[in-house]
Amino acid sequence: MTNSGSSSHDSSRDSRHGPKHDVQRAHGLHEEWTLDRGFYPASEPIEDRLMFLLRYAILAPSAHNSQPWLFRVTGEEGGRVDVFADRRRRCSIVDPHDRELTISCGCALMALRLAMRRHGLADLVSIRPNAADPDLLASVWASGVHATTDDDTFLFKAIMHRRTHRGAYETKALPEHLVTRLVRDAGRESAAIMPVNEMRLKHQVANLVAEGDRAQMRDAAFRTELAKWMRSNHTEKVKDGIPAYAEGHSGGLWEIAPGLEPLIVRTFERGIGRAARDQELAEGSPLLMIIYTENDTPIDWIHAGQALMRLSLRVQAAGVYVSYLNQPIEVPVLRRLLTDTLGIPGAPQLLLRLGYADAIEPTPRRPLSEVLKRDDPFTSGAQRKSH
Ligand SMILES: Cc1cc2nc3c(=O)[nH]c(=O)nc-3n(C[C@H](O)[C@H](O)[C@H](O)COP(=O)(O)O)c2cc1C
Repeated sequence: MTNSGSSSHDSSRDSRHGPKHDVQRAHGLHEEWTLDRGFYPASEPIEDRLMFLLRYAILAPSAHNSQPWLFRVTGEEGGRVDVFADRRRRCSIVDPHDRELTISCGCALMALRLAMRRHGLADLVSIRPNAADPDLLASVWASGVHATTDDDTFLFKAIMHRRTHRGAYETKALPEHLVTRLVRDAGRESAAIMPVNEMRLKHQVANLVAEGDRAQMRDAAFRTELAKWMRSNHTEKVKDGIPAYAEGHSGGLWEIAPGLEPLIVRTFERGIGRAARDQELAEGSPLLMIIYTENDTPIDWIHAGQALMRLSLRVQAAGVYVSYLNQPIEVPVLRRLLTDTLGIPGAPQLLLRLGYADAIEPTPRRPLSEVLKRDDPFTSGAQRKSH
């Protein structure tokens, strides 16, 4: 179903991918991103259609690119996808309660729903449908025909182009109407957004980010976990984690001794340099944003993930990138300070910075066959079909 030769409008193959990135492409890191809608099996059974649409879900962002999701597809009840947390991929140090893991799965859920709507399938969602199974985060039923809207198409197209951009952004402000739209979108997903663009507040938030960096990097267990997800630019077979190019590293030591940087991260404290860099990035970005929810339960985390995905797509379509400065939310004492400093009327879930920047390459994804839940005879059958 992937088609590297396609020039379909929704394909990721566009002129923004310059020759300097041939290394990654030649190593096949982008295979999962060369998806062509032209291969949508419109007249095949519903489980085949849902299976195809899951290829969009796996392009969602996830903490450390851990891709902590599993899916089960059934043709029963008109067609249904169950979204599970894959807790084998959890990051127990930075995310001890699986909050970010659950947010990541919420992102994949939203991508799937948008793909369904774009292809004329209504998406009826139940969040945490079975209290007895905490890993089952959501079920989505293809509950009939959906009249695709322009907005469905608009957001769906951005799935292929969305990236986390960790570089510095232009100082150009985001248009006011876009920010208003983001606030409205988040409300639709039972989450909320607090934009932070006043310099005094940005400065206070940036100080908390730096404090978070110092606290995390002092912790050897945190550094070990971080290093575990770092990848060189030449890791052809490893389809998760963060390649060096996504952190802005190419050439030099990374090419000669790709294992050195993770070793350095594991071994040395270097929190001061990281804090200074992130403080500068926070203050230099035209806009910071907090996604927050009323409460702080797994259901809220799924809402936050859906809101994050919608936000990321909405801005990507406008040429705006998102990156994360979650440190003050990940460190409990700083999370309380952040809440008080900004007067957030709920639980902060994500701290983002937004701005314009040059295009960058996507990060790898595990193939769909690796994220299908295997304990169900039906799914195994569907899995066979997907090859
Ligand atoms: C819940 C969540 C938390 C994240 N936290 C961070 C973070 O603290 N720092 C960071 O640089 N990226 C963070 N990311 C971005 C991921 O690293 C990124 O999505 C992943 O590497 C895949 O890359 P992509 O977004 O370009 O597809 C986070 C993403 C999610 C969904």
